[in-house]
Order: sequence, then C-alpha cells, then structure tokens
Amino acid sequence: MIRLATIGTSTITERFADAVAHVPGIRIDVVFSRDAERGRAFAERLGIPSSADDLDALLASGDIDAVYVGSPNGAHAAQARAAIAAGVHVLIEKPATPTAAEFEELVAAAQERGVVVLEAMRNAYDPGLATVAELLPEIAPVRLASFGQAQYSARYDLVLRGETPNIFDPALAGGALYDLGVYPLSAAVELFGAPDAVTGELVGVATGVDGAGAAVLRYPGHVVQVSFSKIGFSHRPNEIQGERGTIEIDEITAPRMIVVTLRDGTRTEHPVVAAENNMIYEVARFAALVSGGEDAAPDQERSVAVLRAVAAIRAAGGEEVEGED
Ligand SMILES: NC(=O)c1ccc[n+]([C@@H]2O[C@H](COP(=O)([O-])OP(=O)(O)OC[C@H]3O[C@@H](n4cnc5c(N)ncnc54)[C@H](OP(=O)(O)O)[C@@H]3O)[C@@H](O)[C@H]2O)c1
Repeated sequence: MIRLATIGTSTITERFADAVAHVPGIRIDVVFSRDAERGRAFAERLGIPSSADDLDALLASGDIDAVYVGSPNGAHAAQARAAIAAGVHVLIEKPATPTAAEFEELVAAAQERGVVVLEAMRNAYDPGLATVAELLPEIAPVRLASFGQAQYSARYDLVLRGETPNIFDPALAGGALYDLGVYPLSAAVELFGAPDAVTGELVGVATGVDGAGAAVLRYPGHVVQVSFSKIGFSHRPNEIQGERGTIEIDEITAPRMIVVTLRDGTRTEHPVVAAENNMIYEVARFAALVSGGEDAAPDQERSVAVLRAVAAIRAAGGEEVEGED
C-alpha cells in the first residue's frame, strides 16, 4: 500500500483525494497544510486520518511513501526537492515546475535517490487522448492541428479590482500559459512528440503575467496551433486536419466525443467512456511507477518537452525566462 501525504488544501487536492479513493494500492494518510487548523479541518472533512504543518518533519517521519504536490506552481520545486531528498516519491501538479531545467534537476535527484517524480498531467493519461492517437492513421498524413483551452477565471475579477491572486501572481508562476496552455501543449507532445520549433505571443494583464496567448509548434510536415486564455472563453472544438480527413475533439483536457470526418463526408463518432474524475488515470500511473517495473522516463520527457515549449512561448512573447538551457 502506497501511503500518501497531500500538500495544499484547495479544491484540486479534494478532487485528487476523490481520485485516489478509486485507485487500488494507494491511499492518503496525511494532509499537509501550512496552517495546522486548516489542515485538521480539511483532513476531517475528507476522512483522512491525520494532518501535519511541518513538511520537513513529515517527510522525515517514515510515515509516508509519497507526496502529492498541490500547491501553487512557484512552490512546487522546493517541496518536491525536499521530498526527493527524504526518499519520498512525488506526484506533482501541472506545470511540474516553472522551467524545464528545474524539472530535469528533480528527475536527476529522484533517479539518484531511487524514487519516482511524475507530473500530474490529466490529459496525457486520459483514455480519450489515447483514442485520438489510435484514430490518427485514418486521416494521415496530419498537416495542421488546433488545440486550445480557454476558461474565464473568476480570479481575474480580483485582478481587475487591483488584487494579485496566486494564479495571476508572477512570483508563483501564475498566468494562462502555465495554468491552461500546458494542456494543449501536452496533448500536442503526447500525440506528436517534441516539436522542432515553437513561437508564440502573449497578452499581458495588470499583475505582469499573461492572461491569454497563442503559439505555433512546428513538426516535420505539420504545424500545431495552440491557444489559451483565462480572460475569455471558447466553445470552439479542437481539430486535427490530415490529407484524408479531420478529427474533431470536444475537450482537450478530457476528450469525450471524438468525430472523424473523411474527405468524402463519411462521419464517425467515437464517444469515450471514461471516469468523470480523470485524475484517476494519473494516480494509477503514479501508483504503477512507484510499485516498480515501469519506466518513468517517457512521462518525464513529455513534461520536459512541454516546459521547453512554455519557455519558448514566454521568450517569444516578450517575457524573461530564467534558468533555461
Ligand atoms: N489538474 C487540474 O485539473 C488542476 C486544477 C486546478 C489547479 N491545478 C494545479 O494545482 C496547483 C494548485 O492550484 P490552486 O489554484 O489550487 O492553488 P492555490 O489555491 O493558490 O493554492 C493551493 C494550496 O497551496 C497552499 N498555498 C497557497 N499559497 C501558497 C504559497 N504561497 N506557498 C505555498 N503553499 C501555498 C494552500 O494550502 P495551505 O494554505 O493549506 O498550505 C492552498 O490551498 C497548481 O499547480 C495548479 O496548476 C490543477
């Protein structure tokens, strides 16, 4: 049984706890919060046996085998580094770290310590994306794809009132690209591999991060357009165009209706039957990796490719990028 501790007490950790409850061989024993009372209340509400407010002591206790890092993006690297140093496996929310170099350091440290570090990238493990991959030969060769994720954030209303909520805070690696852009980027890398070149443009908001943006990923023989926004919304489906037809995907974070239309007009619907909470799939992958016998390198390489694309978009979009090779 893998004994987990969670870090962070927001909605995403609650959803993560629901996912863990559906995966055999893994359970949450401890809730970590920076605030003892908040941690106690959160653990009690979720039926988790204990809570802690001293992360180093928890990591050294021997009471846990793994942590789920559900803190703001800018806090991930230090918490993951501490866990790995203590010999504790790490499942780390997306984006794993603000830069590829930081994630590569975590991967190297984890290898040395004999533990797993995995990014919790929902769509990469979702059966819907695997279905898209299986359908690609029907329309091949692929020439153009367009993936996007846009959700107006209620926390943008706070920005408009002059505040800096975490998700729009440059000090915590906030912004639409880090928060939502990583989903279409991840889908592109999962389906097509690391791109040869990436460029992009960003729309800034008052706190100094991007609120929206767009990018182009170049592959041999095709390009992928990527868009993301937290200051607007979209009802446009995602699309992959091939010379023989198109694939339409309803939702890039969790593909549930995939439609193939061939050039002669033949239209086939491929509904995807999957868990409502698709964090289940990343938890299952993490549990399998921790249990041994499988290689985390392909998962980690996907994360690095996405973070490199993020860096290229930030650089092209006029943001300074630190710590990149
Ligand atoms: N997979 C998904 O669908 C999904 C959805 C949403 C978010 N996420 C990811 O989940 C992570 C958390 O996002 P969120 O919007 O939930 O963040 P958040 O509400 O700003 O913070 C999450 C938790 O981290 C702790 N925290 C807050 N500020 C912190 C700071 N400055 N330093 C250290 N810890 C801090 C808080 O717990 P305590 O005060 O109790 O310590 C808080 O409950 C992000 O990486 C985000 O990208 C993923």
